[in-house]
Amino acid sequence: MLVLVTGGAGYIGSHAAVELLKNGYDIVVMDNLSNSEMEAIKRVKDLTGKDFPFYEADLLDAETMDLIFTQHNIDAVMHFAGLKAVGESVTLPLNYYRNNVIGTLILCEIMKKHNVKKMVFSSSATVYGNPEKVPIDESFPLSATNSYGRTKLIIEEILRDLFISDSTWHIAILRYFNPIGAHKSGRIGESPKGTPNNLMPYITQVAIGKQEQLRIFGDDYKTPDGTGIRDYIHVVDLVKGHVKALQYLENHEGVEIFNLGTGTGYSVLDLVKSFSEATSKNIPYKIVERRPGDIGVCYANAEKAKRLLKWQAEKDLQEMCEDSWRWQSLNPDGFKSYSKSD
Ligand code: NAD
Ligand code: WQD
Repeated sequence: MLVLVTGGAGYIGSHAAVELLKNGYDIVVMDNLSNSEMEAIKRVKDLTGKDFPFYEADLLDAETMDLIFTQHNIDAVMHFAGLKAVGESVTLPLNYYRNNVIGTLILCEIMKKHNVKKMVFSSSATVYGNPEKVPIDESFPLSATNSYGRTKLIIEEILRDLFISDSTWHIAILRYFNPIGAHKSGRIGESPKGTPNNLMPYITQVAIGKQEQLRIFGDDYKTPDGTGIRDYIHVVDLVKGHVKALQYLENHEGVEIFNLGTGTGYSVLDLVKSFSEATSKNIPYKIVERRPGDIGVCYANAEKAKRLLKWQAEKDLQEMCEDSWRWQSLNPDGFKSYSKSD
């Protein structure tokens, strides 16, 4: 089975590429490298000892997308490509709608033209907005508080409409909670450009001395220690869920939505403590104002994925911290030192 991985040079896509190859799938990868480096592709090949075609291409370039589907007998698509910075999406909404929504539309049109009707799509727990209660299951009401989240909601709707129009599509919408961690080898991982927005990459940059101290955004949430609670999931567990979803699609038509989380919430202070214990690194921090748009508590009910996909997350917080740190300490500048502009 040949799988096209869009955004396969990125954080989650590169781990998915490794997992697919490990499970005997053939892959073709495309990415415009707007938030990633070619080095990630080289390392996926090194790690797996397998070669595969890579296209430096943009989803918005319909001609090249068409060429990829003409040149390869693609059976299914794992669609990771997209812009994902919440803050940036508030200042550049049009970029987000164009890249994520139009990009996905073009992808779907080309898939339809080539009669490729299996897709695993990267959605996000952000589509639950500020949930009334936890744990969050897939039937909870949906809302968005920023343009990034709205692109995910719109794409989910587009995929549902597509299936209504043609019931031979097989689509899995995977709503990720908070992916962290890295491949055990420390060869691939999350390589944010500039100052990290997310908690774990910020912590690892404090640990390596690139940031002075962590700012904890608020300690007055209704949680045991006052800091925000999230469902952190190891990226390798997450991509294993994708392979399970792909297997599920082989004999299930329709649009099926799955939460991918562990089902357990940890606070910011829990994560800082676990990281320090797992790595023997002290993480200095100070409590600052809440970050606008943040919610207090968010964690998954992941029972549906367990029941239908026979998947559940296995790695604990300690392993997530150890693996994030191995990646950061072996690659202090991430993939940056390998970028074309350097
Ligand atoms: P990432 O930025 O590391 O990877 C996305 C990749 O897509 C990048 O390599 C980027 O260069 C590429 N890309 C972006 N626009 C493109 C385009 N028009 N054409 C071709 N390539 C393009 O991000 P990630 O963390 O690996 O996220 C992958 C997917 O998962 C995204 O869709 C993201 O919204 C979603 N997601 C991520 C998280 C998270 O916390 N990391 C959580 C929920 C959902
Ligand atoms: C986690 C916790 C912060 C940084 C975001 C997106 C979401 C999804 C995952 C793509 C919160 C606190 C953080 C820092 C802090 N991405 N924090 N200091 O906000 O749950 O989710 O990434 O779909 O859409 O919104 O993740 O890692 O930014 O924050 O105190 O420097 O850490 O307040 O409680 P978040 P995060």
